[in-house]
Amino acid sequence: MSREKITIVGAGNVGGSAAQRLAEKNGYEIVLLDIVEGLPQGKALDLAQAGAVCGYDAPIRGTNRYDETADSSVVVITSGIARKPGMSRSELLATNANIVRSVVQEVAARSPAAVLVVVANPLDAMTYVAYRVSGFPKQRVVGMAGILDSARFSTFIARELNVSVHNVHAMVLGGHGDAMVPLIRYTTVSGRPVEEWISKDKLDALVKRTRDGGAEIVNLLKTGSAYYAPAASAVEMVEAIIRDENKVLPCAALCEGEYGLSGTYMGVPVRLGKHGVEEILEYTLTPEEQAAFDLSAQGVSELCEEVDNILGG
Ligand code: NAI
Ligand code: 2OP
Repeated sequence: MSREKITIVGAGNVGGSAAQRLAEKNGYEIVLLDIVEGLPQGKALDLAQAGAVCGYDAPIRGTNRYDETADSSVVVITSGIARKPGMSRSELLATNANIVRSVVQEVAARSPAAVLVVVANPLDAMTYVAYRVSGFPKQRVVGMAGILDSARFSTFIARELNVSVHNVHAMVLGGHGDAMVPLIRYTTVSGRPVEEWISKDKLDALVKRTRDGGAEIVNLLKTGSAYYAPAASAVEMVEAIIRDENKVLPCAALCEGEYGLSGTYMGVPVRLGKHGVEEILEYTLTPEEQAAFDLSAQGVSELCEEVDNILGG
């Protein structure tokens, strides 16, 4: 059986959880790579042994060598340091930009046809690093955040209403930061606008909790940041690409004209398929929504300027 190869760079919390989820699908060849010797090998062996219990036999191996990642269809980049309590996403920028740069140089040389799914933070800026360094077309460099942010918003709404989270369809756009844009107007519960279910004050509180969703978990965990939902979100993107699902998902994509942006990575609804970002879907925004989106884009642009200073040119 021929299986498409998926590389996950970074065998930490997000990378390890993503590898587990993908292994359990039993449809892919998985390579887990980390800079730390033994870590990816140990996790991969442990996951292979779990297959004996759970009934999967997908090839999975851990490595510190990029040659083993050659000809991957998708590369998920989780390598980077995670936020610590009190640390903003932007404080991560310089360290993670250098990590992502070195990783992308290695993977792009060996998997020139891959789609890169970036997870490392600050997300929109790291996706821009991957785009610049890889030289790949913009369709094949995409960032994961909107699915996670929308999942958080959906979870809070479902708990507020005591309904299944499957009934909630939420859409969070913008950069993966404090200025992210939960789009209430495009959020429904069983097809009915969420504003008809929840009062404005309560919705405002849920929007705030969504914006602070990453920090809430960092403050609880104390040693690291969220990883189950982030890994699940990255895997949803991987499967949409590998299986050419053309799924509409909020992802960080390079906007050139869309939403009034010129050359900025931003969380927008995209149709995700085998070429990566098949299309950016332009939802109509009210002036207030557009202003919130522009504010978020402004923050991302500033981080990307810092990236340009780090990468040069
Ligand atoms: P972690 O610390 O558990 O794992 C990161 C792994 O990257 C470590 O095993 C580390 O050894 C490895 N690494 C570091 N430098 C490397 C290099 N040069 N080459 C290969 N591997 C390298 O962190 P975690 O929790 O897995 O988070 C990973 C990243 O994802 C962080 O930047 C975090 O902020 C970000 N994140 C982003 C989310 C999003 O919504 N976009 C959600 C959750 C996490
Ligand atoms: C999160 O939102 C840390 O960005 C990561 O959980």
